[in-house]
Amino acid sequence: MRRRRAAVAVGLCASFLLGSLLNALLAPGPDPPPPPAPAQAAALTSGPPGAAAAAIGELEEQIRARYEEVQRYSRGPGAGRPERRLMDLAPPAPPAPPAPPAPPAPPAPRLGCAALRNVSGARFLGSGYTKAVYRARLPGGAAVALKTVDSGGHDVGSCVRQFGARRDCYRLAAHKLVKEMVLLERLAHPNVLQLYGYCYQDSEDAPSALTAITELGAPVEMIQLLQASWEDRFRICLSLVRLLHHLAHSPLGSVTLLDFRPRQFVLVAGELKVTDLDDASVGEAPCNSHQHCRMEFPARNFSLSCVRGRCLGMNEKRNLYNAYRFFFTYLLPHSAPPSLRPLLDEIVNATGELLWGVDETWRQLEHVLQLYQSGAYLQNTTAAPSAEYRRLPETAIPADDYRCWPSHRHGGCVLSVFSVREAVAVCESHTQCRAFVMTNRTTWTGRQLVFFKAGWTQVIPDPNGVTYVRASG
Ligand SMILES: Nc1ncnc2c1ncn2[C@@H]1O[C@H](COP(=O)(O)OP(=O)(O)O)[C@@H](O)[C@H]1O
Ligand SMILES: [Mg+2]
Repeated sequence: MRRRRAAVAVGLCASFLLGSLLNALLAPGPDPPPPPAPAQAAALTSGPPGAAAAAIGELEEQIRARYEEVQRYSRGPGAGRPERRLMDLAPPAPPAPPAPPAPPAPPAPRLGCAALRNVSGARFLGSGYTKAVYRARLPGGAAVALKTVDSGGHDVGSCVRQFGARRDCYRLAAHKLVKEMVLLERLAHPNVLQLYGYCYQDSEDAPSALTAITELGAPVEMIQLLQASWEDRFRICLSLVRLLHHLAHSPLGSVTLLDFRPRQFVLVAGELKVTDLDDASVGEAPCNSHQHCRMEFPARNFSLSCVRGRCLGMNEKRNLYNAYRFFFTYLLPHSAPPSLRPLLDEIVNATGELLWGVDETWRQLEHVLQLYQSGAYLQNTTAAPSAEYRRLPETAIPADDYRCWPSHRHGGCVLSVFSVREAVAVCESHTQCRAFVMTNRTTWTGRQLVFFKAGWTQVIPDPNGVTYVRASG
């Protein structure tokens, strides 16, 4: 870990001091092939003549294919400045006829290399197949995530083993990061990580030449989520279905996330956002027959139709089934309000069987939100209270805590409620509960946070609290 940190510091400094030569990285380059690495050289010399050239040709071909993919995504309606700037890196094109007036461009990325000159507290956050991600504080105090190609990672490593060309392997991986940046911009949405800008500075061996600057999140820890309140877990599922609805109707067409594991998402202030878009695929898969449109998952296979050369609805269905198997099944039903359980079970079953499309699933989850937020889910579920509670305005109880699950605070019992009536019902259902304090703090759905207490040995003045003590029954 210490070694990692040292590497970060060096990498960051290196990227700040180097000059800008973006073309070299992003345009399919006429770079002379670098000498093969020793292992590769041995393999190549023992192979048939011309094998080395063929391998390098294959790598160039892969770089070109990625370059073209990025170009495709950066064209079309809504294409904004960052893509255009990145694509300025392409080889010079013949002069174009005067362009028609451009549509209003979305806000340009605000941050570039200058923003990274004096960052502090750089800390490694995580890495996947291709990228290493660091947290850093900008001079103004804002904390951001810095995404870089992981030169020591699996992607670059396996490429170097195959082709023995480190610099070109870096370029190949950097195209993935560029693709991700373009998609983050083009797919901008509350549940897509926000791209703040990027820095590209070339170097001899390009160790961390391209850095995307994004919103900072917290890696998704499934174990933690399983311990969170139902309200917070429901928020994750709602964020996810809103994202999938957006991806199914994006300005680029239908987008699917080929790698959907929870680690491709982060949490930003309780909202789930997708961070890893380099494995996203845009547009429905081409097909010649229905056989081409099979989706295979470890526990289920689905056969879709090939219609006019495309697998109909495959992108959204793949996303939806993955949402079911990685998120909904664990997060949606458990410890939900009992009256919402049948609806939630239906949502889980329907997505597990792919009975509904993304639009219907989205509508159903928004409906659950509306039932929860409006208190409609409480109708006929809270029996008339069996005990009397005395109301003490502008007071609180500092001690007398007991634990409950899943509490918003460790060491106490803090739950959200829709109304005083619901708080009474909760207190009645806990054998230890003798009092509760309604606060003026609310959760993301607007529900009030309540401290449930085992007694009222001390009641203190508190302008933001209303205490209810159990008087009888
Ligand atoms: N904005 C972010 N804030 C915090 N952590 C992040 C952020 N983006 C990514 N991460 C962490 O870094 C890891 C690697 O990032 P990712 O984009 O998934 O790279 P890769 O393409 O290599 O999988 C993620 O699994 C996640 O835990
Ligand atoms: Mg990843």
